[in-house]
Amino acid sequence: MPALSLLRTARRSEPWSEPRLVAHVDRLAEEHPPIDLATCDFTVRRPDEVVARFAPALDYMARAELEVERNTLELGVLLPHAPDVDRYFYREVWQPQESQHGLALDELQVRLGLPPAQTDLTTLSPKIRAVGALAQVGALQDVVRMLYYLTGMTTERSALLAYHRLHDGLVDMGETAVADTIITPIRRQEPGHFAFYQLSARGLWSRLAEWQRWLVRRMRAVSFAPVAAGDDSRKADVGDMMVALGIGTPESADEFVQTVARTEAELLGAADAGLAVPPYIVRSFRECLELARQRAALA
Ligand SMILES: [Fe+2]
Ligand SMILES: [Fe+2]
Repeated sequence: MPALSLLRTARRSEPWSEPRLVAHVDRLAEEHPPIDLATCDFTVRRPDEVVARFAPALDYMARAELEVERNTLELGVLLPHAPDVDRYFYREVWQPQESQHGLALDELQVRLGLPPAQTDLTTLSPKIRAVGALAQVGALQDVVRMLYYLTGMTTERSALLAYHRLHDGLVDMGETAVADTIITPIRRQEPGHFAFYQLSARGLWSRLAEWQRWLVRRMRAVSFAPVAAGDDSRKADVGDMMVALGIGTPESADEFVQTVARTEAELLGAADAGLAVPPYIVRSFRECLELARQRAALA
């Protein structure tokens, strides 16, 4: 067999390929249109109990979902030479879906008598602009793109786990209308996002040079933070949400982090170093819990 045909055969058998990714995004677009709020039943039988148990979770999740509008602007700066499939995914599928998740959750919290989410939909931070400037250099663009996929993986996985817990908690309380018509449709859309990032991350990682991989590990270790948690107050909000969802003890938080970061640990080599989870992710979620504890103690 000629060398070129061998190469083509090898490429066909690789899990990553652009046509495969495009087909995945096509399928998400077709099977998961953005949720129509008219299909959501906001009936809550015992609003006071839902507020007492889940207010911090609803607020954080609504804000994180709504702020995808700003994240989309950030991606335009961070990935000036993004492949077409990335743009297709984040502009035409991901953002419209996530925005509706945010609107549904925000509507729910307002109907529960809570204030609407305080969002920042437009500010591009100096850090984003600086990384965007670096990303103009082709070889660094791939490093930034890898960080984007890693962030996407941890964010989508944490969202999915959070929605599972929120759903089960609401069902336990007898709040089936909200659980079935809001939380279930939302959580059905998250695994497809995770799959996009995971496929992309595996494909790109296999094509990075060793120095690029080194830089990805370094930048990830110094910059990791949960989504929508840029300062201490937002980090404390993440901690409050974790407590509300029953993952507020160090043991349950570590178990949560292990599930969230499994692919990252495998790709970046933490697993080879005998670590189930990259230590910076463990530290970051523990910090969120600690900041929430400190804030509660001051209140
Ligand atoms: Fe979402
Ligand atoms: Fe998502």
